[in-house]
Amino acid sequence: MADLSTKYLGLDLKNPIIVGSSPLTASLDSLKKCEDAGVGAVVLKSIFEEQIEGDSDALVDEAQDFLVHADAYGFMKGSSMERAIDEHLTLLEDAKKALDIPVIASINCRESGSWIEYINRFVACGADAIELNHYIVAADIAVDGPAIEKNYLSLVKAARKKVKVPLSLKMGSSFSSLANLLYKLDQQSIDGVVLFNRFFSPDIDTKTLQFGSAHMFSTKDEYAQSLRWTALMSEELRYDICAATGIHSGDTVIKQLLAGAKAVQLCSVLMKHGLSSVSKMTGEVSSWMDAHDFTRIEDFNGQLAQERIADPSKWERTQYMRSLMGAKKD
Ligand SMILES: Cc1cc2nc3c(=O)[nH]c(=O)nc-3n(C[C@H](O)[C@H](O)[C@H](O)COP(=O)(O)O)c2cc1C
Repeated sequence: MADLSTKYLGLDLKNPIIVGSSPLTASLDSLKKCEDAGVGAVVLKSIFEEQIEGDSDALVDEAQDFLVHADAYGFMKGSSMERAIDEHLTLLEDAKKALDIPVIASINCRESGSWIEYINRFVACGADAIELNHYIVAADIAVDGPAIEKNYLSLVKAARKKVKVPLSLKMGSSFSSLANLLYKLDQQSIDGVVLFNRFFSPDIDTKTLQFGSAHMFSTKDEYAQSLRWTALMSEELRYDICAATGIHSGDTVIKQLLAGAKAVQLCSVLMKHGLSSVSKMTGEVSSWMDAHDFTRIEDFNGQLAQERIADPSKWERTQYMRSLMGAKKD
């Protein structure tokens, strides 16, 4: 029988499936159900920097149409700073008492503000690791690319100084040189990155002439971006990569592990099809490993990482040309 255990952020996971920060990880009852379903770890629903700093009205105004943050889902306007933090810390403490699997706390942050002072309260309540959930929509014409990247790096640097438990960053993919940014994050002694968060897609309702959001959940075809960057970077970096977005089947989990991910995060598949998807997916990974005579994940983890190819960008270009040349008209 295949052994699915893995190490992510230095934590021992019985399998690589982590429930991503979402409504599924927002209550003790739901967290227990995740553990009962057999997941390797959970990331608690994010607390917002604005909640910690007592500026929650600003947050709701900014995120009013959920244009950016799926995270704002279920967020209560006017929730006071003390209440938000207390509720979050209580959930964390209760989860640590009730669950045997690692519990990762998540903070949605914009800048390295005073919220960083609070991080160790999460650690004191038993968080096994901290995941920073950071996303800037680079829509300010006065702010250039390096300034955006500097924001990410200074935020991680400030958090790293405070946090003694493993620290990871959940991020998007829209950077002019993602490889360079991932490399610079390595120099900040981060323990892992989650590639990638998924944000609500904007849409326009032509009946009401209003902006809104579409497609709250990912589809099973959305994993390619994460697979590409996991494969390109997993051997280049000292920290762990956790693949996320569009992972809906055991087959996709296997692909991400082959590309070099240490773990994967799931949300949409579980919210749409229920927590029974977990055992289905671990069963698929296990059967595939048996069929290929792999007894442990490390037997094949990273086997298809692009570092093993001399020039990954040339390889990508060749694949691109091949797909264009192979494309036929219907
Ligand atoms: C309703 C909803 C709420 C979410 N809330 C959070 C959150 O609080 N923090 C966070 O980092 N990600 C949040 N996410 C993003 C998910 O954790 C996940 O990264 C994203 O949905 C992509 O994974 P998937 O394709 O498996 O859904 C949320 C997603 C959804 C659909």
